Amino acid sequence: MSNFATLLAVFFLIGVISAKSCNLPPSEWCSTTEISVACQVEKQCRLWSGMGSKATAPVNIALYYESLCPGCKEFITTQLQPTWMKLGDSGILNVTLVPYGNAHEQQEGTGWIFECQHGEWECAGNIMETCILSLFKFKTAAPIIFCMEAAVDPYRTAYQCLQQQGVDPKPALQCANSSMGNALEHKMALLTESLNPPHQYTPWITLNGMHTEAIQQKATTDLAKLVCDTFTGQKPDACSDLYNMERCYRNSKSTFT
Ligand SMILES: *[C@@H]1O[C@H](CO)[C@@H](O)[C@H](O)[C@H]1NC(C)=O
Ligand SMILES: *[C@@H]1O[C@H](CO)[C@@H](O)[C@H](O)[C@H]1NC(C)=O
Repeated sequence: MSNFATLLAVFFLIGVISAKSCNLPPSEWCSTTEISVACQVEKQCRLWSGMGSKATAPVNIALYYESLCPGCKEFITTQLQPTWMKLGDSGILNVTLVPYGNAHEQQEGTGWIFECQHGEWECAGNIMETCILSLFKFKTAAPIIFCMEAAVDPYRTAYQCLQQQGVDPKPALQCANSSMGNALEHKMALLTESLNPPHQYTPWITLNGMHTEAIQQKATTDLAKLVCDTFTGQKPDACSDLYNMERCYRNSKSTFT
């Protein structure tokens, strides 16, 4: 066989191998890196998967708070609750509540003794809310916590709020007065203490794990807008409604001034 024929054979073989390795419908081309290389669409697949994961990832809002602090109650009732009602079902918002705030803890035996800024009923409220968050899915826990934080005394309103949501209050009440509730609250302490930068006040808000004064400011003035602005995927209708209302408000303002 001549050199030329060998060369042709080699090219033919390479052609067969690469054609074979991309012998898949286009819908499969991005299924693995190897396939995307074989089908010569590696770069496109990287771009596409980056967009895909961003589009589906919800915006994470975490609230570090304590049950009796007036600023926390205000944020929960005037920002978090309405925002959750608007955007909770859209899947673009993931809320994490950490009821501990400026409390301190000290180990005693196998458990922890908590000391809270606003006294023992605040600690009781923190532990009750922690138990509720651990016992129920957030969808169920959220309205219970909103109900508690709207009351003067969240801890002593828990029973009523649990009943209002149609859940059996017993497990939560038992948890709040047990070593399980104590251990769960210790986890909240650890979460709070691992904040970077450490929290300086409550409520302390993080957006996708980050805290800045600008984020705090935006979250406490218009949380729903912050979440919609941050979400990079296709905005749900609830966001468009929000933007439309904002536009109307701006227009009416310019009409009247
Ligand atoms: C929602 O937040 C929790 C932390 O509370 C986190 O573990 C979880 O991964 C987040 N979910 C998504 C989809 O980002
Ligand atoms: C539960 O409550 C009772 C009565 O208030 C108290 O005596 C007991 O020590 C509590 N148990 C725990 C584990 O906190």
